Amino acid sequence: MRTYLITGGTDGMGRGLGLHFLERGDRVIAVASGEAKGRAFTEAAARLGAADRVRFLRADLSTVAGMHAVTAEIESSVDSLDGVVFATQRFQQRRVLTADGLEYTFALSYLSRFVIGHGLVPLLDRAEAPVVFNLGAPGGFPGRIFWDDISFEREPYKGMKAATQASRSIDLLAVDFPRRHPDTRAKYVVYNPMFVKTGMADPLPQPKRAFTNAMAALFAQRVAKAIVPMAALIDGPPAAPVTAWRRTTPLPLTGKDFDPDAADRLHRLTGKILERVEAAGELG
Ligand SMILES: NC(=O)c1ccc[n+]([C@@H]2O[C@H](COP(=O)([O-])OP(=O)(O)OC[C@H]3O[C@@H](n4cnc5c(N)ncnc54)[C@H](OP(=O)(O)O)[C@@H]3O)[C@@H](O)[C@H]2O)c1
Repeated sequence: MRTYLITGGTDGMGRGLGLHFLERGDRVIAVASGEAKGRAFTEAAARLGAADRVRFLRADLSTVAGMHAVTAEIESSVDSLDGVVFATQRFQQRRVLTADGLEYTFALSYLSRFVIGHGLVPLLDRAEAPVVFNLGAPGGFPGRIFWDDISFEREPYKGMKAATQASRSIDLLAVDFPRRHPDTRAKYVVYNPMFVKTGMADPLPQPKRAFTNAMAALFAQRVAKAIVPMAALIDGPPAAPVTAWRRTTPLPLTGKDFDPDAADRLHRLTGKILERVEAAGELG
């Protein structure tokens, strides 16, 4: 029986992958912030006969405390991890600051994957063929990192700018991962599912929500179909330490999105951000 941690595991593709693994007999720990969707997920698991193999862990992964709490809880409750799937998202139309004073999308979509992914390497290395599967948007919408203003203090905020900044940060996190863990057996996969019909549009105001849902009805893939190539990559990750995919197309790890120097810069910047948050927490 394999064990998977899925952040954002109670909705959309994270939920779809979680139920897929549970149905075939694996163990799944799903993390999300909402109790109702968590309960619905464990009830769906019970209907599959997996009540004793599912766990819902409630945490707000936009906060550094939430990220550390999940890492610590997993460390203390499982012996090894076959896979970590990162699938959280919550689109923010307006600039929102987290309890740590960071821009929300950067914290939830990138920083949580940094903290949990690096933190769980020792547990991953106890599994036979471990994988970190990071859902993002490599090779998708362009976007850039606002190096001197990561939380949009001066740069005018737009939801898409924050979302694409997080995507670029995820690409760099992926390419940097083997450098931080040269001896790990865990394979790092960053994956763009393209347009998939999920609860993605739920936080949008009308009429944007109705428009996005109408576009999704016409053009997006269903979750059940979208997760098939993802599950295949998780079951049989490529031999290379890190790979990037747009659906079933492998992407070259070249160009500025995967620039190793930028990846190193982001790693150092992230370390400083975390130090600052943790120092503020100790003072407070
Ligand atoms: N859907 C697409 O077309 C598409 C395209 C490209 C990339 N992606 C990427 O694929 C991944 C999955 O997307 P999706 O559309 O399947 O997502 P989704 O249906 O919107 O589900 C998002 C999940 O994240 C959780 N979440 C939100 N805020 C959270 C928080 N503060 N702390 C912990 N969990 C939180 C949600 O549960 P709660 O609300 O209860 O917390 C939910 O379980 C994301 O990384 C997304 O960026 C999606």
